[in-house]
Amino acid sequence: MQNLKGLRIVGTGHYVPDNVVTNDDLSKIVDTNDEWITSRTGIKRRHHVIAEKNQDMAIAAAKMALENAGIDKSELGVCICATVRADNLTPSMACMVQKILELPNNIPCFDINAACSGFMYGVQAARGMLLQSDKKYGLVIGSETLSKVLDMTDRSTCILFGDGAGAAVIELTDDNRFFSVLGSKGDDVVLNIPNHNGERYVNMLGSDVFKFAVSTVPKTMFELLDMAELTADDIDLFVCHQANMRIIESVAKKCKQNLDKFYINLHEYGNTSSASIPIALSELNEKGMLKPGMKIICVGFGGGLTWGGAYIEW
Ligand code: UT7
Repeated sequence: MQNLKGLRIVGTGHYVPDNVVTNDDLSKIVDTNDEWITSRTGIKRRHHVIAEKNQDMAIAAAKMALENAGIDKSELGVCICATVRADNLTPSMACMVQKILELPNNIPCFDINAACSGFMYGVQAARGMLLQSDKKYGLVIGSETLSKVLDMTDRSTCILFGDGAGAAVIELTDDNRFFSVLGSKGDDVVLNIPNHNGERYVNMLGSDVFKFAVSTVPKTMFELLDMAELTADDIDLFVCHQANMRIIESVAKKCKQNLDKFYINLHEYGNTSSASIPIALSELNEKGMLKPGMKIICVGFGGGLTWGGAYIEW
């Protein structure tokens, strides 16, 4: 049993399908256009699966994260996959990652669903499990095929979402401080994806989700700053769930921070739900933009309604 309070990310990975769907492609299917989508959301492209299963993406992202971490897989103590749409009711995506990547057989592997906040929930859940374990590392994945549950005749939702997966290997440590805020407010009206009576598409009251996001994300950030006894000026990098550029701009304004402290890739991938934050972290890592000691705040929000954030020291 471990007695460590901090956490650090020791490896990251991501995968997105090759198939790109541009705003112009969508304008041939529904009554929309590049100008509307770009100005209201910031999204230019998204990647949609053709042949890939959700677990294929999760496995690819996890493999990259494990290679990036360079750890011995036998030291993994837990594998968690966040997703709203696993390929099977059982086995879980996490168990399939375990099988294909030959992770140790004696560790807990399971999926969680906290929608777009799923990765943040996963990190905190993995941390809790590692505290009860004598193993050092945890593998947390966010992986989504939301293109499979989009009504391609509904212009208010089909333009927003993309597919992809991101993953991180975490380690408990006392050298890197870590704080987490998770919350939920049960609501099946503002945002839902039914799975009964043949219904299976994303339904959303967009402006209600927008209002929820622009109040909840800064609130979560300020709670994390209080916990860390820091101000927003002390933070080097903010990694928000990539849903809408206007949401990120509003958050930056409320925190009185320059937008260039916020990593943005939603123009390329759209909203990839639980995958958006780990994809962003993996891209940042790949580009060499994460330096030891950097103070980072990540915040997600989404269906449930849920929200989740973390203060991380790189
Ligand atoms: O992971 C969390 C999941 N969701 C989110 O984060 C979504 C948060 N919400 C949003 O990003 C925005 O609310 C949306 C992008 C979904 C919508 O933007 P909006 O500025 O709130 O637009 P709106 O829903 O108020 O619609 C304004 C107009 C409407 O037309 P009328 O009624 O004014 O004539 C819509 O029918 O824009 C119309 N519209 C579109 N027009 C062209 C809605 N979607 C489109 C479209 N192309 N794709």
